[in-house]
Amino acid sequence: MAKTIAETQKESPEERSERVTIGRAVGKVILFGEHAVVYDRPAIAVPVTQVQAQARIEDGEDSLTLMAKDLGIEHRWGEPVPKEIEPLVALVEATLDKLSITAPPALRITLESTIPIARGLGSGAAVSTAVVRGLGQHFGHSLSSEEVSALVYGAERYYHGTPSGIDNTVIAYQKPIYFVKGKEPVVISLAQPLDLIIADSGVASPTKEVVQEVRTGWEKDMEKYERVFDGIEDLTSQARKAMISGSLLRVGELMGENHQLLVKLGVSSPLLDSLVEAARGAGAWGAKLSGAGKGGNAVALIRPGSEEAVAKSLEGAGAKSIIYTQVS
Ligand code: MEV
Repeated sequence: MAKTIAETQKESPEERSERVTIGRAVGKVILFGEHAVVYDRPAIAVPVTQVQAQARIEDGEDSLTLMAKDLGIEHRWGEPVPKEIEPLVALVEATLDKLSITAPPALRITLESTIPIARGLGSGAAVSTAVVRGLGQHFGHSLSSEEVSALVYGAERYYHGTPSGIDNTVIAYQKPIYFVKGKEPVVISLAQPLDLIIADSGVASPTKEVVQEVRTGWEKDMEKYERVFDGIEDLTSQARKAMISGSLLRVGELMGENHQLLVKLGVSSPLLDSLVEAARGAGAWGAKLSGAGKGGNAVALIRPGSEEAVAKSLEGAGAKSIIYTQVS
């Protein structure tokens, strides 16, 4: 069981050195409403448990150290902060502050993740969530999903500029959510599990850049973009109802319509369009690009048991890797 800060402080160095806490967080995929959500429309996202980020927190000998394995970076507090991990260092400090720990404790934080970077699966938000959860647990604080999400949002802003907050929210709540920026998320009770296939285009797509491109387009032709966002809002609210009533055929149709509106926004690509087509051709109920677009992933809602056929078709169309997940 996690210990309180007072208990932790009373322990001898030997006891402290044995303590290891693992904070974990899963990935996410957006099913409806990406981009429109930045402009105050609703979106729907679900957790992806097949991929995971992990923060291992160990009591260390001397200073606070952060090791980001994927980036090959080890940072000791007091030394210059490498640019790539500035948001993580700021997040560790904000979390310690939230836990009322004023001086950097002698800890070693090691980060690992199986979530592909810049593919729309929430890798940054998941690593950050693992850090916050790990630190909270290590010091015996049970932070609420809302508190975790708020801390991670700070790091997301650093990475993405003007994030809607959907990534940190769905990852902190780890449930299907209907999300509107700045509002409490609504958990969607699915009448039927969703069988999803996520196909990686193999093309890295930094969210910040694509969001900026959409912003530039919106500034040039607000009327057109607002109309598209309204269309996305309408089908997102229909999708929520269809998920609650278990009408998966309808959810699939709406995904296809959402993809077409994302094409209008200019965030698809020939490869993403081919992946969507390939999934539909193999009998998926629906498919669309997911996340910022231009690269990243396509997601397909499939009939239970059809994952092999759909995966094969997606690979034939150029998918670099496939994740199958069931959300309930
Ligand atoms: C990125 O995962 C989703 C976007 O809508 C950006 C955001 O919501 O911050 C493209």
